[in-house]
Amino acid sequence: MRIGVLASSGGTNLEAILRAELPVVAVLVDRPCGATSVAERAGVPAVLVHRATFGPDFDRVAYTERVVDVLERHGVELVVMAGFGTILDKQIHDVYPSRILNTHPALLPAFPGWHAVEEALAAGVKVTGCTVHLATLEVDSGPILAQEAVPVLDGDTAETLHERIKEVEHRLYPETIRRFIS
Ligand code: GRF
Repeated sequence: MRIGVLASSGGTNLEAILRAELPVVAVLVDRPCGATSVAERAGVPAVLVHRATFGPDFDRVAYTERVVDVLERHGVELVVMAGFGTILDKQIHDVYPSRILNTHPALLPAFPGWHAVEEALAAGVKVTGCTVHLATLEVDSGPILAQEAVPVLDGDTAETLHERIKEVEHRLYPETIRRFIS
């Protein structure tokens, strides 16, 4: 199954997926970010579909069409989101029904959204974790494929906690993708 990875940040999950030798044929980013150089170092084509605005004038439908077009041009069969910061429109779900995976740095359904780690810390939970799930139109929801707990330690900051969660994601996400495609 030909995998296309969508990313917006440092790309450490992408790195873990590539290290696991999963069949990644393209990486798509919505902004300049570390994931691009991770892809280039691995010899995988990285395509910037630049999201020019985060304001009310953002045309989500048109943007999604551009993303789908790039994925189709690379013959992508499975979409893997790894820290992708743009919510895509219905069209991608029509083209890839039950074929879009996501990893989230919390134990869903707790703490959905972009600030999951900060919110878990602020809530004072003693255990959080990560969730790999099938992405649906509704953000950070969809059938859960794998989950693992991570303890919150005294003195944790959002950064130290997120790093500890990512260590687990780096193992759990590639493992779950492999299981999903086999
Ligand atoms: C991960 O923690 C992922 O769960 C979240 O964004 C982070 C991406 O990190 N959605 P990286 O770019 O893979 O380092």
